Amino acid sequence: MILVEACAFSPGKVILLGEHFVVHGAYALVGAIEQGSTTKSSYSNVDEIVSEDLNLSWREGQPVPPQLAPYKKALEAIKKEFGSSKNVRSSIKSGLPLSAGLGSSSSTSVSFVASVLKLLDVGLEQDKVFEIAMESEKMIHRNPSGVDVFIGVEGGLHLFRRDGSRKKVELAGPLKLIVVNTGISRSTSDLISRFSSYRKLFPAYFDGLVKASSHVAMLGSDYLSRGRYEEFGLLLNYQHAILSFLGVSCKALDDIVNSSIEYGALGAKLTGAGGGGCAIVLPEQSSAEECLRRFDGFEAFLTTLPSRGLRTWTE
Ligand code: MEV
Repeated sequence: MILVEACAFSPGKVILLGEHFVVHGAYALVGAIEQGSTTKSSYSNVDEIVSEDLNLSWREGQPVPPQLAPYKKALEAIKKEFGSSKNVRSSIKSGLPLSAGLGSSSSTSVSFVASVLKLLDVGLEQDKVFEIAMESEKMIHRNPSGVDVFIGVEGGLHLFRRDGSRKKVELAGPLKLIVVNTGISRSTSDLISRFSSYRKLFPAYFDGLVKASSHVAMLGSDYLSRGRYEEFGLLLNYQHAILSFLGVSCKALDDIVNSSIEYGALGAKLTGAGGGGCAIVLPEQSSAEECLRRFDGFEAFLTTLPSRGLRTWTE
């Protein structure tokens, strides 16, 4: 018998502009990165989910570890929707640091859902992958905007708004960014709550900031499509200051942003939920490797946008 594994890769992401505000209806500018998560699924005697990174597994009939519950839920939803009674074994492996703002959970959810759909041979409609993966994300982050799941399916660089408005952004050329990890892990849902509490504190000012953030994301996409990196860098610095004011930065992130400017970068900011996790740094494009070397005490890497979205294959 030929053993077939249905495999799916979904990229992680960097939010260039607009995190948190996107939860409240603003546009975010988001790009897929080369690193991501892979899931391989095959038919088995029992349902089984294995996470190599978390060193956790679940088998039908056993209590599910909370970290794997979103994937068990997705598996049940898929089997119910497509009337399948076959048992599936899925193995998940992520090449992304966990809880670091790079979309490790969303790329895992997307690759998991796509690999199971591919195994069952029920079609791989992007909207369906998004819809099922979003249910897993809601279990993890309570009130996600969907931006991470969207880019994990679609890839590329996009303006995204949670009301369904999405616009592909064409870059003037490949964009090199440095990702620097503080190594501090944190909870996205707690940070979403902390940030959102400012809405109650000063509603009119907060709504103004949401509108301004949308404007900044659109302006940023325009600068990137025209290769105006210096202006784009200024927007990164501005947005970091606002996010810091609204309580979702930390000393380590502020230090990275300040050092970046000293190292000759054009701009830098936290990316994702903040509170730790990663910062993105926009280097002078001609000396990106040199700038990367300045962060030698950190887990830091260079990534080039745009990157592809979801892809599937069999082994
Ligand atoms: C997390 O990657 C981005 C946030 O804006 C939350 C979300 O949009 O779901 C903080």
